Amino acid sequence: MRRVAGEEGLAEGAALLRAGGIVAFPTETVYGLGADARSDSAVQRIFAAKGRPSDNPLIVHVADREGARRLARRWPDLAERLAARFWPGPLTLVVPARKEVASATRAGLDTVGLRCPAHPLALRLLQAAALPVAAPSANRSGRPSPTTAEAVLDDLKAADGLVLDGGPSGIGVESTVVDVSSGAPVLLRPGGLGREEVEAVAGPLLVLGDDGKAPRAPGMKYRHYAPALPVRLLRLEPEAAIAVIRRQFDPADTGILAATEVREALSAYRGVDLGPDADSAAAALFEGLRRLERDPDLARIVAVWCDTRGRGLAVLNRLEKAAGGGRHV
Ligand code: TXA
Ligand code: MG
Repeated sequence: MRRVAGEEGLAEGAALLRAGGIVAFPTETVYGLGADARSDSAVQRIFAAKGRPSDNPLIVHVADREGARRLARRWPDLAERLAARFWPGPLTLVVPARKEVASATRAGLDTVGLRCPAHPLALRLLQAAALPVAAPSANRSGRPSPTTAEAVLDDLKAADGLVLDGGPSGIGVESTVVDVSSGAPVLLRPGGLGREEVEAVAGPLLVLGDDGKAPRAPGMKYRHYAPALPVRLLRLEPEAAIAVIRRQFDPADTGILAATEVREALSAYRGVDLGPDADSAAAALFEGLRRLERDPDLARIVAVWCDTRGRGLAVLNRLEKAAGGGRHV
């Protein structure tokens, strides 16, 4: 992939999307790898570049609510209320799809995940290309999502396409995915928008897996977010986590990923400071995993997290998956 500074690359990126090519671009959550969502052959290029299983559908990015309604076979009242409140922003709504959305984009489902991103470059790219853009996170399948253009290149250098460099994406974890396509709304993936905020508009959300049924977000069954080193997650309060780490892990080959309080107490260890709260942790999480995996002296990463409020729930979910747990099969 060829990197271009965001502003200068906009026109070229839009033209490439119109020609059926792939373009990585920043969003406010993570970098996405985009292609024309209406074209099976364009979207196949995304699956090929990522090594993504073809049964995992892609999120389609639109410039506004009008663009979303055009792709929805039905646009439920709740979709309208959530989009009116939270778009542009880190919320993906799964709704019944029109046939214009390529089958490969939907992975053959009759629904589509739609989102209007809040990043100015992403919005300008969508406006300039004037088409719906299917874009999963721009990482190799199974790897931590990229929050910088460098991370995109680390994973996808060999692919044929363009990377629009817009600096680090701010939020750092992907969008919250809510299925409003039938019956009660379901939280399919916690993300950048807190569950509490969605529930303030939608009422209580069902949570994927709570009813014991098969996952409705096909992507959730795969191993995800895994760096090159094994990850251990300690879902403990600071004091308990500090004691466990001192007792069980060797500072010589263990990297710590934790909030400031824990990180500072463990100064004998190398590691990454996730900052004081869930928002700072979300912003630092994926880059932190990528930084630690590059350290040749480390044999493992020990992550400490237990907060489930706001973006904390997404941080916990990503770390569970990076550690090989959570709901993936
Ligand atoms: O923040 C984000 O959402 C980023 C940026 C680039 O927008 N995109 C992203 O896409 O995270 P991806 O492909 O890495 O994750 C999409 C998730 C997957 O878990 C997928 O299974 C689910 O959304 N999904 C997409 N379409 C769906 C559908 N029709 N029904 C159920 N789940 C769907
Ligand atoms: Mg992804």
